[in-house]
Amino acid sequence: MKICKTISELIVWRNESETRNIGFVPTMGSLHQGHFSLVEESKNVCQKTVVSIFVNELQFSPEEDFDQYPRTIETDLDALKTLKVDVVFLPSKEEMYNESFSVVVTELKISQKLEGASRPGFFKGVTTIVSKLFNLVRPSHAFFGQKDIQQLVVIQRMVKDLNYAIKVVGCETVREKNGLAMSSRNQYLSSNEKERASIIYKTLQLGENMVKNNEKYSTIINAMKGNLQEDGGELQVDYLSITETGNFDELSDDRHLQCVGVGNINFSTQVVISCAVYLNKVRLIDNIVVNV
Ligand code: PAJ
Repeated sequence: MKICKTISELIVWRNESETRNIGFVPTMGSLHQGHFSLVEESKNVCQKTVVSIFVNELQFSPEEDFDQYPRTIETDLDALKTLKVDVVFLPSKEEMYNESFSVVVTELKISQKLEGASRPGFFKGVTTIVSKLFNLVRPSHAFFGQKDIQQLVVIQRMVKDLNYAIKVVGCETVREKNGLAMSSRNQYLSSNEKERASIIYKTLQLGENMVKNNEKYSTIINAMKGNLQEDGGELQVDYLSITETGNFDELSDDRHLQCVGVGNINFSTQVVISCAVYLNKVRLIDNIVVNV
């Protein structure tokens, strides 16, 4: 496994690489089974796999957890070696953002909603770094998790609108046995908190069943809120949302009926139920895509 710490090392490798199918998995490290599933998918589809590990400060707002974000480089590298990854790109901050850095990539529509509304600047940071990484790695395929579904859709838009010749592959969310979506931030939780956090997925499943039963939008949202509060009120809801896939437009009692009504499926056959909650100070996100 080759480890490139500088852009020039990566460019030399890339220029010498004659492989047509190069899979790319961008990450911020502190790797877990969710990340590994993307690597495995890349290895299934592509001849070579490149993983990047870079905690991208540009996507953190000043009050967020950039400094505390878990960094476990040695363990990460061992795991990637075992998985037989071809190249790990491990740049420093200085390597990715020079002092005079002043150009960013911004998606203007989807990134205003949900995660973007709660975390101003987040998607600008994501699209900028992913675009830079795409330019350096020049992959044929890039793998992203459905766990961060809005990020996946924003990247798909970026690839389309900026004409990257890259196939973006969305991979299923990997969960703990109790349903909690795996996340590097789960390390902030005690085992008791991890158990309590399993209410998030159970609540999404409740929403999924209600959507499938064609219940009213407001009834579903209220039932889900009530379910989350069963934890004794310690979970704080940042947002709870049922949207169309693709554009993340929120449904409503009227649009819900239009969307899922029997024999009336005229603009969407998929909806995304998503949420962000705080458990103590830890922010957790999850979603379910419902095929209606
Ligand atoms: P990070 O949170 O490290 O996630 C890297 C990739 O792993 C993302 O595509 C994410 O959706 C996926 N992932 C995380 N948890 C997952 C799970 N439980 N199941 C399946 N996939 C999962 O997302 C980022 O980093 C950054 O924003 C990045 C794209 C690297 C840009 O900095």
